[in-house]
Amino acid sequence: MLKKIPVEKVRQGMYLQQLCGSWLNSPFWQTSFVIDGPELVQQVRNCGVREIWIDIARGVDVVEQPADSAAQGQPASAADAPRFSFGVVENVPVAEELERAARLVNRSKEAVGAMFNEARMGRLSNVASAMPLVEDIAASVLRNPGALVSLVRLKQADDYTYLHSVAVCALMVALARKLGLDDEEVRECGMAGLLHDIGKMAVPNDILNKPGKLTDAEFGAVKGHPSAGHRLLIESDSVSPIALDVCLHHHEKYDGSGYPHGLKGEEISLHARMGAVCDVYDAITSDRPYKAGWCPAESLRKMAEWTKAGHFDPVIFAAFVKCIGIYPVGTLVRLKSGRLGVVLDNTKSLLQPLVRVFFSTKSTSYIPPETIDLALPGLQESIAAREDAAAWNFPDVDRYWLTAA
Ligand SMILES: [Fe+2]
Ligand SMILES: [Fe+2]
Repeated sequence: MLKKIPVEKVRQGMYLQQLCGSWLNSPFWQTSFVIDGPELVQQVRNCGVREIWIDIARGVDVVEQPADSAAQGQPASAADAPRFSFGVVENVPVAEELERAARLVNRSKEAVGAMFNEARMGRLSNVASAMPLVEDIAASVLRNPGALVSLVRLKQADDYTYLHSVAVCALMVALARKLGLDDEEVRECGMAGLLHDIGKMAVPNDILNKPGKLTDAEFGAVKGHPSAGHRLLIESDSVSPIALDVCLHHHEKYDGSGYPHGLKGEEISLHARMGAVCDVYDAITSDRPYKAGWCPAESLRKMAEWTKAGHFDPVIFAAFVKCIGIYPVGTLVRLKSGRLGVVLDNTKSLLQPLVRVFFSTKSTSYIPPETIDLALPGLQESIAAREDAAAWNFPDVDRYWLTAA
């Protein structure tokens, strides 16, 4: 539905249908587009027209201020509102955060399940009520990303849809923080992660979980989920432009080969480029009904290849690796001494993490588990290589970091 609005009411997430003025003098190369970032908001405000047409079926609407808000001394616009703050968050070791994170994962699964059930009925009544959950997930990630992020990676195939949303929420928070975004934006990125796949409710489960290649028609149905989710979110209350944008564009690829709009490079917003990286990392590290997940370090290696091939923004991918580590929690590594161990925590040092060793390659036998801090000064021990747990036939290397507390 088209609506004419004064240009000063432009905000991020609107779909600009047309400027009310000569297009020839405008600085924009497209006639219609999503206003997907603060820079574009400013450009539209400064482009020399007084009014624009927006399509509120394809983007967010204006925010109407109560007539007497200024008189009552209330903030005149969202930009003037008090910003959200996480305050001072103290880092804790993974082992200390695990129990709290496990409780949070259970709570999240229920809450996201309820939200997805609502979506299945074709409506979302109160998305904002999920924000306290997003804030709790963010607080856990800020204390130590390794705990919650690694726990949700271990999700059962049955829980995939709900816990994938929780994982992407957590990863978005960690990445947003690494990129230096402010607390309010970090929180909105978390919410965007939680909601990004809400449109999957429109895709039949047997297609989502189908082993093997999808037919063209089935792939077409899957490709509809960003737009379906976007439509649902636009109709609900108080969904931020960031969440709308990530929902619609998390399957765009940096080289323009993604969907739904084939956007390329910086045409894809920062938040959607972040969403693409977080989404794929969790998808490929998770067990699915048709394939076992790859280990975290192997997943990063594959994603580095895909980045070179044009899938992800290289700057965003590099920041992502810095926040979850070259050797994420749960990675099996071989030390110089020949011992094999699992990474427990990499918060103090990405290259010299805390490792729990349990196997000797020299005697090819299990040894009593021992925790080694590779960052200790003077220690004559370091990581020689990453190892594949499946190739060693280790049934469950995750128990070493899960029970190390
Ligand atoms: Fe998706
Ligand atoms: Fe996803």
